[in-house]
Amino acid sequence: MKLIEDIKDKARKLNKRIVLPESTEERTLKAADQVIQEKLARITLIGNPEEILMMADKFQLKNIGRAEMVNPVSHKMKDHYIDMMVELRKHKGLTRDEASKLIENPLYLSVMMIKNGDADGEVAGAANATGDVLRPAFQYVKTRPGISVVSGAFIMIHPDPSFGDNGVIVFADGAVHPDPTDKELAEIAVATARTTKSILGIEPRVAMISFSTKGSAKHEMVDKVVNATRMAREMAPDIKIDGELQVDAALIEAIGKQKAPGSDIAGRANVMIFSSLDVGNVAYKLVQRLGKAEAIGPVLQDMAAPINDLSRGCSVNDIVSLVAITANQSA
Ligand code: ACO
Repeated sequence: MKLIEDIKDKARKLNKRIVLPESTEERTLKAADQVIQEKLARITLIGNPEEILMMADKFQLKNIGRAEMVNPVSHKMKDHYIDMMVELRKHKGLTRDEASKLIENPLYLSVMMIKNGDADGEVAGAANATGDVLRPAFQYVKTRPGISVVSGAFIMIHPDPSFGDNGVIVFADGAVHPDPTDKELAEIAVATARTTKSILGIEPRVAMISFSTKGSAKHEMVDKVVNATRMAREMAPDIKIDGELQVDAALIEAIGKQKAPGSDIAGRANVMIFSSLDVGNVAYKLVQRLGKAEAIGPVLQDMAAPINDLSRGCSVNDIVSLVAITANQSA
C-alpha cells in the first residue's frame, strides 16, 4: 500500500537507530532482517549475540549480522545506566541493587539506551504484554513536556475506500489509558490529530465518539465526551473536531447529515476518539477481524521519545511497518 511505502521512504532517509529488545522472538528477528534489507533503520538487538546468530542461521536470515547486538549482562554502559536509573527514580526509593537487576531486563535496557541518547526509538510487544513494555517507558522516558497522558493510536486501513480518507481512519486510544478524564480525552484527541497529520500527511477530521449524537442521550458518559470535545477545541483551535457523535453519524454521510446537520465532521471523520480503552480496544479489534481492515499500531503518542508496543498477535509485516513509523516519529 502506498501509505506504508511513503512512510518507509521517509524512514530510509532518516536512517534512525531502533532498538528491538525481543531479539530471540521469531517474528521480531525476521522483521529485523527485513528492516535491514530494506534499509529502513539501523537495528540494535538486545540479547546474547551467540543465541541471536544461531536463530538467524536457523531461519536463514542473511542480514542479522549487520545489526548491532548488545548483551544486557555485559553491556559496556551498564554501570552508567544503573547510576541514571537510581538518580531518576530516587524519589520512588529505587536502590542500586534493584536497578542492577532491572537493567538486565531488555525492556529496561532499551529505554535507558534511548534516555542516554544511544538509540532513537524502540519497538517491542510481540512477546511481552503491553503493560510490561509501557511501564519502563513511562518511568524513565516519560511524556513530552506539558503532556499528562500517553495514548495509543491505530492506523486502520479498511478495504472500502469510501470510509475516512481512502479507507484510512485513525482510532485512539486503543492501547494505553483505561479510563481517561475529560481533559485527558481532549489531550488524546489533539495528540491523535497531530499523529494523523505528521505520520500520514492527512488533514485530520476528528470525531469524538459516543453512544449519543448531539444530545440524543443524556448520561455522565456522554457528558465526558461533550466536555472533552470543548476542551480539545480550546487546546487546538486549528484542528477540526466535532462531537459527540455516534459511529454511524461519524462515518456515513447520509446519517451524519440527518443526525448532526451542519457538522463539518459528521459523515467524513478520518479520526475517531473513543471514551475509554474498553471501547477503543474492542472497536479496533472488531474492525480488524470482522471488518477485515489492516491495523497498524498502536503508535504511542506523546512519549518524550518514540517507543511503540505491538499486539502479541502481530505479523512480521506489522513489526516492519511499526519500525518505519517509529523512525518517522523520532524525526
Ligand atoms: N501516560 C503517561 N504516564 C502514565 C500513563 C499514561 N497513560 N499511565 C501510567 N503512567 C505513569 C504513571 O504516572 C507512573 O509514573 P511514576 O512511576 O513515575 O509515578 C507510571 O506510569 C506507572 O504507573 P502505574 O499506574 O503505577 O502503572 P501501572 O502499571 O498500574 O499502569 C499501564 C500503567 C501499564 C499503562 C496500565 O495503565 C495498563 O496496563 N494499561 C492497559 C494496557 C493494555 O493492556 N492495553 C490493551 C492491550 S494493547 C493491544 O491490544 C495492542
